[in-house]
Amino acid sequence: MTRRLMAGTGWKMNLRTGEVAGYAARLLEQLHAVDTSAIDVFVLPPYTSLGAAATAFGGTPVAIGGQNMHWEEQGAWTGEISAPMLLDAGCRYVELAHSERLQHFGETYERVRSKVDRALATGLTPIVCLGETAEDRREGRSDAVLASQAATALAGQPAQRVPDVVLAYEPRWAIGSSEAASPDYVAARHTTLRALLSERFGTEVAGRTRILYGGSVTPDNGPALVALDDVDGLFVGRAAWHPDGFARIVAEVAAAAQVKSRRSDR
Ligand code: PGA
Repeated sequence: MTRRLMAGTGWKMNLRTGEVAGYAARLLEQLHAVDTSAIDVFVLPPYTSLGAAATAFGGTPVAIGGQNMHWEEQGAWTGEISAPMLLDAGCRYVELAHSERLQHFGETYERVRSKVDRALATGLTPIVCLGETAEDRREGRSDAVLASQAATALAGQPAQRVPDVVLAYEPRWAIGSSEAASPDYVAARHTTLRALLSERFGTEVAGRTRILYGGSVTPDNGPALVALDDVDGLFVGRAAWHPDGFARIVAEVAAAAQVKSRRSDR
């Protein structure tokens, strides 16, 4: 079973409207030489730059998405953005449960579950982040934490909808830090997540659901991470805020997609 690999970046609170066209031009120029037809590439700008990004990436292989959204469709929710608004702005994706939302803004996986529902009903692909804290890891409960986060975020989803959700394993201690998790550690967590999906939703669904890795990914450590069997792509912060860094990572994911598809043909 080959899953379509993904290369994505969340810009977080970076890149203002006037900076988007330059980023896009430089990225697209470098991607000319890369066959991206077998992978999905996405950029998640801040809300105010979505319009500029929709224009700059329109008609290119790079899709855009939001970094968060509200679970209701509309209403008296001052300061919030709804799924239909993201769709209006040209988004295909929405990121949910990023560790910075959990840590600083009180996001919970119960809320994330409602957001997953709304995103799917609106036609957006939710990218749901999962990850243990440094303390969870020290105390040996990483897998239990991941299992509980995934179970809560996907509770009530009919099995056939689960592959429409993208999971992103992002250990909270590896985000914005100096080092990514080691390939062995990542492989073990991804295997756990895949097994959990299989147990709850069946092997066919588990085999079709993509699980990305994120947390201090760079062009240097990217190839070893995306080569892992259960890693279906890379989700990048800092290393992709410059288009040259993102272009290298996209090229690495495209190369890994070719290797994985040859392997599955055998
Ligand atoms: P980082 O961020 O690559 O800068 O560690 C990753 C993320 O927040 O998804």
